Amino acid sequence: MYVIETKELVKTFGEFTAVDGVNLTVEKGMIFGLLGPNGAGKSTLINILTCALRPTSGTALISGLDVAGDRKDVLSIIGVVPQEKSFYEDLTVMENLIYFGSLYSMPRVEIKRKAHEILNLLRLLDKKDKKSKDLSGGMKTRLNVACALIHKPEVLILDEPSVGLDPVSAMALRETIKKVNSDGVTVLITTHDMMEADELCHRIVIVNRGKIVEEGTPGELKAKVGVEKILIKSTPGEYHALAEKIEKIASVEETEDALTISSSDFQSILPKVLEIFREANETVVDITASKPNLKDVFIHATGEEWK
Ligand SMILES: Nc1ncnc2c1ncn2[C@@H]1O[C@H](COP(=O)(O)OP(=O)(O)OP(=O)(O)O)[C@@H](O)[C@H]1O
Ligand SMILES: [Mg+2]
Repeated sequence: MYVIETKELVKTFGEFTAVDGVNLTVEKGMIFGLLGPNGAGKSTLINILTCALRPTSGTALISGLDVAGDRKDVLSIIGVVPQEKSFYEDLTVMENLIYFGSLYSMPRVEIKRKAHEILNLLRLLDKKDKKSKDLSGGMKTRLNVACALIHKPEVLILDEPSVGLDPVSAMALRETIKKVNSDGVTVLITTHDMMEADELCHRIVIVNRGKIVEEGTPGELKAKVGVEKILIKSTPGEYHALAEKIEKIASVEETEDALTISSSDFQSILPKVLEIFREANETVVDITASKPNLKDVFIHATGEEWK
């Protein structure tokens, strides 16, 4: 069974279709990314999954529970990290967790036990009695996540959590998400930051104009674009002679001061290419690799520019 499953999910606003027949499945234990440009429909989809919006048609299930029908049960098994800080600045770290736990009618001893566990996991235990407003930016980010975890959700859902964070806090957030995930929580995160999606997510769907246009691991998606290129410079640089040998195993282009080799499988090609250089008594002085990134994947999938 999937932790998240949508079937032909549609959300329209008047004439406009923001989510257009989305079939999404997220397996337990994943960090799953929804990647897409502004206006793609990511937040609308998240709002449906977190029971903040009702779908126009189609279904969305979280651990088998219908978000439109079993709202209360769904909310008890998801943790939602809003983009804005959800905690109270004037409360201490522990007081915030007690407050959020009490919203779920958890017994106080259970809240405290879980709070210790989370604060330990997120490296905030020594700050438990500190006023939240006195935490550093990175710590506040971690507290925001901690508040969403107090009721032991199965799924953590974050909508563009790194927008507006400084690079250090953004890195702290990624580490936090990985930790929470390794602790057994399935994660769904939206982003339009391709580097973030690439670094963090086990699987990604690319969303454009309300539709899923690609799905896979970051590696699979980039592999779909196909070729990578490597530029090699060597001395003395008899590139024509080298090219004649290399073209038997890969596509090669000669320029005045380098060879550009294209292949969809450099793992097996590169050692052979380097062997050709060595046999020709060429000393490699520079190798530059250019790999496709998720932006290339988007352009490849949609034929549109990433805006
Ligand atoms: N309540 C609403 N009424 C009318 N249109 C809406 C409403 N909410 C969203 N939309 C439209 O639906 C589309 C998708 O919006 P959504 O916020 O889901 O995009 P997004 O992928 O989250 O974008 P971003 O990366 O900018 O956050 C947009 O064109 C938006 O203008
Ligand atoms: Mg959004």
